[in-house]
Amino acid sequence: MTQEKVRVAFIGAGKQANWRHYPSVASLPDVEIAALCDLDAGKAEETAKRWGVPKTFTDYEQMLREVEPQAVYIIMGPQVVYEPVSYALRNGHNVFMEKPPGVTLNGIKMLAHYAETNNCISMVGFQRRFVPAMTELKARVEARGPIHSVLVANLKSTRDFASPASTGVLDQLTSDGMHAVDNLRWLAGGDVIRVSSHVATRYIPGPVANAVMAQVEFSSGAVGQLHYSHVTGGSAITEGATAPGVFKAEIHGQNISAHVDAERQSSIVADNGEPEVFDARSYGEALGDNPNHWLGFWHETRYFIDCIKAGTQPHCNIPDAVKTWELIEEIYRASSAPG
Ligand SMILES: NC(=O)c1ccc[n+]([C@@H]2O[C@H](COP(=O)([O-])OP(=O)(O)OC[C@H]3O[C@@H](n4cnc5c(N)ncnc54)[C@H](O)[C@@H]3O)[C@@H](O)[C@H]2O)c1
Repeated sequence: MTQEKVRVAFIGAGKQANWRHYPSVASLPDVEIAALCDLDAGKAEETAKRWGVPKTFTDYEQMLREVEPQAVYIIMGPQVVYEPVSYALRNGHNVFMEKPPGVTLNGIKMLAHYAETNNCISMVGFQRRFVPAMTELKARVEARGPIHSVLVANLKSTRDFASPASTGVLDQLTSDGMHAVDNLRWLAGGDVIRVSSHVATRYIPGPVANAVMAQVEFSSGAVGQLHYSHVTGGSAITEGATAPGVFKAEIHGQNISAHVDAERQSSIVADNGEPEVFDARSYGEALGDNPNHWLGFWHETRYFIDCIKAGTQPHCNIPDAVKTWELIEEIYRASSAPG
């Protein structure tokens, strides 16, 4: 018996989509990319040829009407994503979107409202939650009981302030750093109870904060520490970079500790034993030669499609992303730094 494939459509044929999402979706045997849409017809044609997509459009409303996909990937910058995502949700489509999911908290709350009132499955691309070393070591710590403390460090140097995250549409913490804040929430679990922070702008002119340290207490009982910085050692975000700085997490439970670095070594140590050390690029199900595997992009897609098939909400749906955004705002409000 042949298995029915999940019918997916894409809006956006840009860099991130071609780099991360088309290859991940196209690799799944139980999914077909039925159509794609981009305002730029040339990009749409080129992308369709590359991934074997039979139909292209330049008008997403027309595409969604004609193709009636079971899920739509909407992959474009936060400054333009509101209209297509709200249209898709208001018309009952299940949506995968990239982070950051917009430019204002109000906008993302509206998207959450549309998703909830139209019973849509939604997901925001927090692929750091799906890094195989992260998910598997988190589970091993939790096997001993609740996580009690977490540290997430996302560290880069300041080289490329003309990168898309830095055009002025959004501050660094809400655009790029949102991954780290989201990871902190996801690892610690529960709701935010208390936040203290130090938010600073170092070395560069202008108002954009680039050095953030925060401590967050969660209703789970866990305490989280965040270090997000663009003024440390570690590569800056540049196009085509495969090692965008350092993204590390420490996950601590009762007499057990995991250290995760998705692109380098990860380890776990229990009681007074010796640490087990892994190359995170070949951990668990990750395929060692493909960054989309060890960085979590392939696994987030597998999970999203499984949610579509099962009719269940992803843990990182749009309503959940509202909470990550709210924590970012709380980190700014709580800052003890002058100015
Ligand atoms: N998860 C991550 O780690 C990560 C990393 C990098 C980028 N991103 C995110 O990915 C998103 C996309 O970034 P990008 O650099 O690929 O953008 P991009 O500009 O290269 O691509 C966007 C595409 O969308 C198309 N488009 C815009 N409006 C449209 C509309 N109304 N209808 C149809 N097509 C339309 C554009 O023509 C363009 O081809 C951003 O939100 C960015 O923050 C996430």
